[in-house]
Parts: sequence; structure tokens; C-alpha cells
Amino acid sequence: MANLHHPGKRWAPVMHLSKEGNDLKRVACLCVCSLVLLIALAACAPPLPAAVASAPPTSAVTAEQWAERYPMEYAQWAASVHGVAYLAGDMAAPGCTGCHGDPAGGETRTVPFRLNIPAKCGRCHADQQVTAKHGLPNDTYESYLKTFHGATVAYYRATDPAAERYEAVCSDCHAAHAIHAPSDARSSVAPANLLRACVKCHQGAGPAFATTADGHFRTDRMASPLLYVLELVYRIGIPLIIGAMLLYILLDILHRVRSRAGGGNQS
Ligand code: HEC
Ligand code: HEC
Ligand code: HEC
Ligand code: HEC
Repeated sequence: MANLHHPGKRWAPVMHLSKEGNDLKRVACLCVCSLVLLIALAACAPPLPAAVASAPPTSAVTAEQWAERYPMEYAQWAASVHGVAYLAGDMAAPGCTGCHGDPAGGETRTVPFRLNIPAKCGRCHADQQVTAKHGLPNDTYESYLKTFHGATVAYYRATDPAAERYEAVCSDCHAAHAIHAPSDARSSVAPANLLRACVKCHQGAGPAFATTADGHFRTDRMASPLLYVLELVYRIGIPLIIGAMLLYILLDILHRVRSRAGGGNQS
């Protein structure tokens, strides 16, 4: 690389390192080592877990009473993957107060509740124990947050919880009560039904619009190898390039300071 400040010299800071005293070498060595450590940390550190919501208040109302008060929601839930599991005694599945408190309180119609829905589902669907025990993927919440919908909802949830937003939350695609596995034909996100879920908001969208990647965005090796490699290149490449730039600047400053201290015989 040509050196603009010192025409004729190839790369002044490096030449200094090779010619001059041990102090500079030690400083440079320290910089390089910290840089390598930083890059390794940036590349290997797992992303921070996204904040999930706490459990809604429990209620003394019995299943029979819920069925009487809200027959439609109850019937949908009872036939759903959650209801079937719950009624069979699986307490890890949500009952009527698993996602919200008593609906009579009006909570489910408030604006902050809507922005909170993904975090309410995430309470269980990002829980390592619950997902492992049920053979479910652990990243449904995280992969939702990586989509346009999820990132926008998370942003407003954190900065302006009273904002009225219409980006899709979990229940817009999966339904709130009639939730089934995507492989079940009754599921609102089953391949044959998915477009209908999008068209509720994206009017006029054609069949090509509903790709599964818009519900959950995954960059793992198996689902999308190309994206995985690209993300890796970015995670390693960006700190490497910025680090190298900072190192270059630091060496240049050191060089100038030393030149000046040495009576300016270098410049
Ligand atoms: C998997 C999460 C989940 C479970 C479990 C659940 N709900 Fe809901 N419920 C929601 C969401 C989300 C809403 C918000 C409104 C919507 O999207 O339909 C809601 C809204 C409601 C509403 C208000 C509807 C309205 O128009 O304002 C009622 C009533 C209700 N739920 C009753 C129940 C009953 C009864 C049960 C148990 C049989 C139950 N829910 C279980 C997620 C759930
Ligand atoms: C209290 C914990 C809990 C909450 C809250 C919860 N779920 Fe679940 N969910 C489960 C469990 C447990 C299962 C597995 C049930 C089984 O297969 O027996 C499940 C299964 C599912 C499945 C089926 C997955 C498959 O491939 O079989 C979907 C889809 C789903 N949940 C979506 C949601 C959505 C959307 C919400 C929020 C509106 C939500 N869940 C809230 C615990 C929860
Ligand atoms: C509850 C409403 C709702 C549902 C359901 C919904 N979306 Fe969206 N979506 C939005 C909103 C609102 C935006 C932001 C639009 C904007 O800012 O232009 C958005 C943005 C998007 C974007 C990025 C921006 C753009 O306009 O291209 C994509 C891609 C997208 N949605 C795909 C989907 C797909 C695929 C489905 C169905 C699986 C779906 N959405 C279901 C509300 C929804
Ligand atoms: C824009 C629509 C959309 C939104 C929003 C959405 N999903 Fe999904 N979800 C899908 C589709 C489509 C599938 C099936 C294909 C796939 O797995 O990506 C799916 C699959 C799932 C599954 C089955 C297991 C799996 O990942 O294969 C679970 C559980 C689930 N979603 C939970 C959630 C939760 C929890 C949220 C909110 C935090 C959410 N979904 C938000 C569309 C959506």
C-alpha cells in the first residue's frame, strides 16, 4: 500500500515496528490481540434472548364456566392444539388465562395488549423446557422478530407501547383460539390457507406473496444455507474491517507522536 504521508516509504507504521524499540511492539501486539478477541466474541456470542411477557394473572373460573361465558372462543380453543393438550392434563399448554387475563376486564381490546401478543406467545414458545418437552422448534419467537412485522412490533412495544400498529402479530396469522400445527389442514397458516391470512391486510396480494419466510425468518444452516453464510460473512467481516481501520489509525497516531518526540527527523 502506498503511504501518502511518506512518499517512497511503503507502509510507515509497519516499518517502524520492525525498526524501533520494544514498547511500540508491545502496544501493537496488545491491540492485535484485543482485536482478535473482539472479533471472536462478536462472531461467536449468541444473540441476546428477546424479552418475553410475564404470565397473565390466574383466575378461579373453571373450564365449564369459561365454556358457558364464551362458547365460541371455548369451542375453538378446545379443538385447538393448545386446548386438546390442556384438557388432557398438559399444564404447559395455555388455558383461558394462558395468553390473557379474564377477558371480562377488556384487556384484550386495549392497544398495548396487541403489541404484547408475540411476547405472550413467546413466554412458552421461546422457553427451552416447554419446547424441548413438546418437540417444538425453540426459535419461533426469535424468527418472528426477524421479520418486518416482528421487528416493527418489537420496536413500538419498546418505545411507544400505546402506538396503534397493524403489522401482523402471531394471532393474526395463527388465529387467537383456533390454533393448529401448520401441517393440520384446519390451521390458518396451512399452505392452502396461508394467502387468506395475508390478504386480510395485504389486499390484492397474489399467491406468490405468501411465502412461509414472511412468518418466520430463519438464517440457520438447514433452512437457508446461502443466508446463513451471508450472515456469517457480515458478522465476521464488519468487525474485521472496522477493527483493521481502527488499528491502522492507531498505528498512524503512534507513528506521528513518536516522530514528533524524536525531533521530527522522520517527516
Ligand atoms: C393462545 C393464546 C390464547 C388462549 C389460550 C386463549 N386466548 Fe382468548 N384471546 C387471545 C388473543 C390474542 C385475543 C385478542 C383478540 C383476537 O386476536 O381475537 C383474545 C381475545 C379473547 C376474547 C375477546 C374477544 C373480543 O372480541 O374482544 C375472549 C372473550 C377470549 N379471548 C376468550 C378466551 C377463552 C374463553 C379462552 C379459553 C377457552 C381463551 N380466550 C384462551 C389469545 C388466547
Ligand atoms: C402457556 C404456554 C403457551 C402459550 C402462552 C402459547 N403456547 Fe402455543 N403451544 C404450547 C404447547 C405446550 C404446545 C404443544 C402442544 C402439543 O403439541 O401437545 C403449543 C403448540 C402450538 C402450535 C402448534 C405447533 C406444532 O407444530 O405442533 C402453534 C402453532 C402454537 N402453539 C402457536 C401459539 C401462538 C400463536 C400463541 C400465542 C397467541 C401461543 N402458541 C401461546 C404452549 C403455549
Ligand atoms: C394484521 C395485518 C397483517 C397480516 C395478517 C399480514 N401482514 Fe404483512 N404487513 C402488515 C403491515 C401493516 C405491514 C407494513 C406495511 C407498510 O409499512 O407498507 C406489513 C408488511 C409486510 C412486508 C414487508 C413490507 C412490504 O409491504 O412488502 C411483507 C413482506 C409482508 N408484510 C408479508 C406478509 C405475508 C406473507 C403475510 C401472510 C403470511 C402477511 N404479511 C400478513 C400487516 C399484515
Ligand atoms: C405473517 C404470519 C405469521 C406470523 C405473524 C407468525 N407466524 Fe408462526 N407460522 C407461520 C407460518 C406460515 C408457519 C409455517 C411455516 C414455518 O414454520 O415457517 C408458522 C409456523 C409456526 C409454528 C410451528 C412450528 C414451526 O416453526 O415450524 C409455531 C409454533 C408458530 N408458528 C408460532 C408463532 C408465534 C409464537 C408467533 C409470534 C411470536 C408467530 N408464529 C407469528 C406464520 C406466521
